[in-house]
Amino acid sequence: MNRKKFLVNSALSVLAVSAFANVKQDGNIFKADCATTNDILGPFYIPDAPVKNDLIAEGMDGTPVLVKGKIFGNDCSTVLKNALVEIWQCNHKGEYDNSGSNGVLRARWYTDDEGSYSFKTILPGKYLNGQKYRPAHIHFRVSADQHQELISQLYFQGDPHIEEDPWASKKEAVERIRPIILEDISGNLVVNFDIALKNV
Ligand SMILES: [Fe+2]
Repeated sequence: MNRKKFLVNSALSVLAVSAFANVKQDGNIFKADCATTNDILGPFYIPDAPVKNDLIAEGMDGTPVLVKGKIFGNDCSTVLKNALVEIWQCNHKGEYDNSGSNGVLRARWYTDDEGSYSFKTILPGKYLNGQKYRPAHIHFRVSADQHQELISQLYFQGDPHIEEDPWASKKEAVERIRPIILEDISGNLVVNFDIALKNV
């Protein structure tokens, strides 16, 4: 492994162990203080989006990014397989495709046996909420048996519009403002977003 690759890998392993800042261990029991917080549904959710993990259509403008993570239960450590993850977002110009459930930049899928999900998309643009832009965000809806449904949003570190946004600026949203990472020496961008659901 060359030095450059080693430095990238070292940085990633530090990030990998810090998915949840609030996990406390008491003996063998993990105290759950990690449930991902809710956010507004917004007006653009459409059910039954296509099952697909690559949302980048041919010729689509925007900056490609891979979003990935795991879905956990309330103990912050048990992975949830077969959890339904739905996402929707605007394009790089801040526009949603509201033509129906087959609209672009809408998708759903189920987590694998390790509770993992990942999808390729573009970084969303921004749109006005009154006089102010909402920060870039991706909407999530996550459901799993025996757990509360989560409706939430993922934000991106360094976004200057977070501070004035009524939802992204809440302290409950802090864990959902994630860094955009240069994953490898080829310049591919990745956002890691682990999610924990509350029990019913
Ligand atoms: Fe939105």
